[in-house]
Amino acid sequence: MNTILKYISNIGIIPVIAFNSVEEAVPLCKALAAGGLPAAEVTFRTACAEECIRTIQKEVPEMLLGAGTVTTVEQADRAIAAGATYIVAPGYDPEVVRHVIGKGVVMIPGTVTPGEMQQAMNQGCEVLKFFPAEANGGVAMLKNIGAALKTAKWMCTGGVNAKNVNDYLGFDQITAVGGTWMCKGDMIKAGEWDKITAL
Ligand code: 3PG
Repeated sequence: MNTILKYISNIGIIPVIAFNSVEEAVPLCKALAAGGLPAAEVTFRTACAEECIRTIQKEVPEMLLGAGTVTTVEQADRAIAAGATYIVAPGYDPEVVRHVIGKGVVMIPGTVTPGEMQQAMNQGCEVLKFFPAEANGGVAMLKNIGAALKTAKWMCTGGVNAKNVNDYLGFDQITAVGGTWMCKGDMIKAGEWDKITAL
């Protein structure tokens, strides 16, 4: 397995973050690292994502830094240039997958159906995002799909939380999970860094 993916698998839980401003980037990443999660998927849902990635890469270099909600080739290029070491998308777009893999960067596209999963795997994606996980049947669904797609590996996000995280990580085809439960938007806005570290 690719080194970045191995690292994601070792950490096991990837915080998914939508930053409101670049000022939040360093304190939030330090809070996450202090809590044992030196990893972040910085989503392109907010306009400051690219600048946040650049700042974190410089100021908190121990973070395993990826970009999320990357839906276009142009966003992927900006995220990679800013320092993202892997690219995540909510859906499966063969053009974006081809482009990112062509640049030698890890691509984790969002997939729900076996058809999407097969196509992404055949393009060279070693790990697939299963999103939104809970709404699409969660671990039970992946156990059914995994019985056929035995080499598929998933990172599950969407509805994963402190209560069900161990169910996900207990299935060996699930490499990691992602989520916002330890760094909800209101906690970030309020600068509740100690609470985030504790969670
Ligand atoms: C994602 O993009 O991975 C999800 O929005 C995270 O989902 P959650 O907020 O349910 O953890």
